[in-house]
Amino acid sequence: MSEKIGVNAYIVGGYVRDKLLNLESDDIDITVEGDGIKFAFMLNEILNGEMEVHDKFETAKIKTKDFELDIVSARKERYERPGMLPVVQRASLADDIKRRDFTINMLALDVKTNQIIDIYNGGNDIKNKLIRVVHDKSFVDDPTRIFRAIRYSGRLGFKIEQHTERLLRKSISDGDIFNVSADRIMNEIYLILKEKKPEPIVELMKYYQINKELFCGIKINATNLNTSPKEGDILLYRFLLLFYNATKEDADCLIRKYNLKREYLSGLSDILNIKMNMSKLNENASIFNTLKDKRIEAISAVHIMEDLNTKQAIEKYYDMVKLKRLEINGDDIKRLGLQPSPIYKQILDKILLDKISGKIKDRE
Ligand code: CTP
Repeated sequence: MSEKIGVNAYIVGGYVRDKLLNLESDDIDITVEGDGIKFAFMLNEILNGEMEVHDKFETAKIKTKDFELDIVSARKERYERPGMLPVVQRASLADDIKRRDFTINMLALDVKTNQIIDIYNGGNDIKNKLIRVVHDKSFVDDPTRIFRAIRYSGRLGFKIEQHTERLLRKSISDGDIFNVSADRIMNEIYLILKEKKPEPIVELMKYYQINKELFCGIKINATNLNTSPKEGDILLYRFLLLFYNATKEDADCLIRKYNLKREYLSGLSDILNIKMNMSKLNENASIFNTLKDKRIEAISAVHIMEDLNTKQAIEKYYDMVKLKRLEINGDDIKRLGLQPSPIYKQILDKILLDKISGKIKDRE
């Protein structure tokens, strides 16, 4: 089909890397020498997926049941200032490959011939499990690649090649990352926390000391990061584990600096509050009162991080909530046509607590 519209199309990046590693991947990046959008329209006549087009960036996304395809016109990039997003212009596949981060991501698969194009010996680096840049300014131009190098290293168990490691360490010690916007930095943290196993990656962040000033002086935590919460949002739960050691001042600083969403803010303060009341988690009423308004992700984080006594108290709380659900809730009160008021929540909590402590018996 690429022949039909007179363009060359290539699968590039992670999909080719993962294919050579025999890993599953459902994200496919396609680079087209020529009009990428025109190619995307023709491709979607066959695939019949949902398509989104961004004319301004000359990109298109097609979502099918099994795959997500990102189609772009081959481009080259020019960094006007380190850390800023680059200026782009149309180019050949070779230019497009050259702008990429590491050799393992620089392989292309020609969709016409099914041949792999390997200009920078990425195939060898995959074989030898090495992460390597091809030009010395790679981390300076785009310091988010510091996180990317560590993420691939932790995920794939690859070593960062010696010269690349030297450049990485220099970029870290020069503070290049401070040229990157807070949003882009936090996006890298989220990408790490979304990995199947973030633990080794965060260990590498600690090893390379890239967290020093970036996170308000918080000593980041790597333990238990490969786990999931009992319920709730896995990203928030892992975020709370990563910053488990934050004090109130640290948390305030983090929130200001990264403009975090409300639930992240309340999660951090829930953890601080539970930690402060830990010594009171010794009988039902205080366990219930301490935990009842806290986010489930925060409770799960404390559960996995703390000692046996705290774990048992939290498990008791889970049982209380599970076994003693009230037959009525706030919605029933609304349905009765009563004006919303915090007093109803207080009443329901009091009834639940009395049930838990046995003052009110369950109906047979
Ligand atoms: N890329 C880059 N520099 C960045 C981000 C991305 O050079 N800061 C390039 C890489 O070559 C990468 C491609 O853009 O292969 C696509 O990026 P992304 O989707 O983030 O990575 P994948 O290769 O798909 O790898 P994965 O999603 O498995 O992490």
